[in-house]
Amino acid sequence: MAYRWTNDLSREDATPERAFLNRRQIMAAAAAAAGLGAIGGPRGARAATGELDPNEWDEITTYNNYYEFGTGKSDPAQYADALTTSPWSVTIDGLVDRPGEYSFDDIMSKMTTEERIYRFRCVEAWSMVIPWNGFELADLLDMVGVKSSAKYVAFETALRPDEMRGVSFPVLDWPYVEGLRLDEAMHPLTIIATGIYGRDIPNQNGAPLRLVVPWKYGFKSIKSIVRISLVEDQPPTSWNKANAREYGFYSNVNPEVDHPRWSQATERPIGGGIFAGRKETLMFNGYGDDVAALYEGMDLNKYY
Ligand code: MTE
Repeated sequence: MAYRWTNDLSREDATPERAFLNRRQIMAAAAAAAGLGAIGGPRGARAATGELDPNEWDEITTYNNYYEFGTGKSDPAQYADALTTSPWSVTIDGLVDRPGEYSFDDIMSKMTTEERIYRFRCVEAWSMVIPWNGFELADLLDMVGVKSSAKYVAFETALRPDEMRGVSFPVLDWPYVEGLRLDEAMHPLTIIATGIYGRDIPNQNGAPLRLVVPWKYGFKSIKSIVRISLVEDQPPTSWNKANAREYGFYSNVNPEVDHPRWSQATERPIGGGIFAGRKETLMFNGYGDDVAALYEGMDLNKYY
């Protein structure tokens, strides 16, 4: 769990003082409510090295993609409250030693959560910086024991027509599914997020458990997970099924490989204001030092 990665983002620096104080109050309240120690102690006090600051809570929770609740950016914030997230359980099956249905509470009692401030880059060429709370997916996979024959991990989102007004439209082939190669899934940067800014993750962001893979386009970060299966073959993924030419299995952030309909060389930071302008997209979303080795020798134009 004590993975150290080169993070160039910090929370407080460059934040206006009022927002800073506000946020500290929210954090302190959340920490007190959860019976935790001070969140953002050593990490929050870290010296500034970065060019960025996390987005505001309102930006992160009102500009979303969660098509089960509609395709508009504000639909998830408006309609995702209908999703019942407690009780919740995740079926973990396939090539594992201890398959079963694991309750959210059971999982949380065994996992150690921490804060990870990550860049988040959507394939639609907008971006945010999000202070997630979560645990490493590798810890969960270790808990169930991955068999040596497993090569990929498949994920599935809940499908509840009664609670998800968007699934009556055939925008995607429901349920939403995603997948990672096993080494990507086991990478210490890959987390299951359960919170944002020290508070429970809101429904629109994928409560109660959602994947976050910071070097890949946002659509790999599947929300409200109900099934995790260890498999031998590369699993189908929703956007690839919808349009294989536009969305590959890997979907690593890559400024040199354009989407067939738009450039991926730059991105629009959400919340920067109208004068903020676009910024250059970084290879592997800035996490190349940590993950480039996973793709050594692969033609990234072919495996996009
Ligand atoms: N997961 C599900 N189940 N359904 C979705 O529509 N959208 C994806 C991803 N995970 C999506 C999903 C896309 S396109 C993005 S960019 C991110 O969620 C958005 O995450 P956020 O709303 O927390 O920013």
